[in-house]
Amino acid sequence: MDRVKRNVIVGQSGGPTAAINSSLAGVYRTAKERGYNKIYGMIHGIQGLLEGRYIDLSEHITNYLDEELLKRTPASYLGSCRFKLPEIHEKREVFDQIFAKLDELEIDCFIYIGGNDSMDTIKKLSDYSLLNGSKIRFVGCPKTIDNDLALTDHTPGFGSAAKYIGTSVKEVIRDGLSLETPHGQIVIIEIMGRNAGWLTGSAALAQGEDCLGPDAIYLPELPFDVDKFVEKCRKGLEEKPSLVIAISEGIHTEDGTYISEFGSASDYVDAFGHKMLTGTASYLANVLASRLGCKTRAIELSTLQRAASHLASRVDIMEAASAGGAAVKAADEGDSGVMIVFNRISEDPYLCSTEVKDVHRIANEEKLVPREWVNEEGDNVTKDFVDYVRPLIQGDVSPVMVDGIPRHLYKPGYEKLL
Ligand code: F6P
Repeated sequence: MDRVKRNVIVGQSGGPTAAINSSLAGVYRTAKERGYNKIYGMIHGIQGLLEGRYIDLSEHITNYLDEELLKRTPASYLGSCRFKLPEIHEKREVFDQIFAKLDELEIDCFIYIGGNDSMDTIKKLSDYSLLNGSKIRFVGCPKTIDNDLALTDHTPGFGSAAKYIGTSVKEVIRDGLSLETPHGQIVIIEIMGRNAGWLTGSAALAQGEDCLGPDAIYLPELPFDVDKFVEKCRKGLEEKPSLVIAISEGIHTEDGTYISEFGSASDYVDAFGHKMLTGTASYLANVLASRLGCKTRAIELSTLQRAASHLASRVDIMEAASAGGAAVKAADEGDSGVMIVFNRISEDPYLCSTEVKDVHRIANEEKLVPREWVNEEGDNVTKDFVDYVRPLIQGDVSPVMVDGIPRHLYKPGYEKLL
């Protein structure tokens, strides 16, 4: 006899992306199709659930148009968190509280959409379910613009951010070619990704028949030498009047000091111990201006790169939805303590399949850009890198334009005007 399906709960965690809501739409659709009764959404992830904050998604996603709008809405519709659960042996009561809430809501499947830190939550909850004999299944759905999750070819969210970065860098290069500036001009573009250079390397996508691409790209995987960098720029300006250089927010000196710490870096540290990285481009632009006497500009792409749903990659949005669907399918079919991963099965045509992998091998790990995908000098990425990223940025998702601006799905009463 078929078991009676009860309810599903889904949460979003970590840094938002342009595709995370597409995964939410995928979870919602598949849970409905598989006959689950209610689909709850945690407000601000596990942190909100601990405070009893959740919604019944079917009260908010009422028709097919809402689902389509959700896929086109950047950031985390449900609200996100960076909340680290304690170790089980340290504070069992926190887990008892969560499981009591999940039992009260009659949850069968718990889906968490997030990155490596968020997978720590799936790991701990699934471990605890084994200890207390709970039948709830815990499945992770990958998400992060950083593309640094282990065991998966790539992560939803990365392709759209990479597309935005490649496009923006190209536009900045074009802009730089317009004016003749006495003593030359250098633009430094700071890109997110913390310790992984996948996003920064995507600046190379700007290169094509009509654009030479950035003059240098510095990833956080290799130590950064400020003096060598200034020398490279000095030589560069002897050859051309305008340079555009992409740097990761996480570049650091040989001894591990972030370059951002030399500037007016923020002291903010999140629950996982990550420093907020900001101000690197502006610090380096000031160094170049004073040492080379040229005009400089610093562009920190900041949240623009992860919120740019108007330039989302179709491949990314579709894959994000399929990862959400695959997470529900896995949980429905009995998997727990796993995360959905992508396997690239063909390059041309590009084709990926999904499967599940043990979340213990993914949580808190960081997948970095391999050394062989960076040139020998350490100031650009190779063709293999670009060939890897290119399929992930293909296709467009047309925004629903209202009064000339993309329309988003939002929860009434959730946004407050100050
Ligand atoms: O984890 C994703 C990410 O976008 C990182 O690339 C970046 O360092 C971090 O989030 C920034 O987060 P926040 O906007 O919360 O400071």
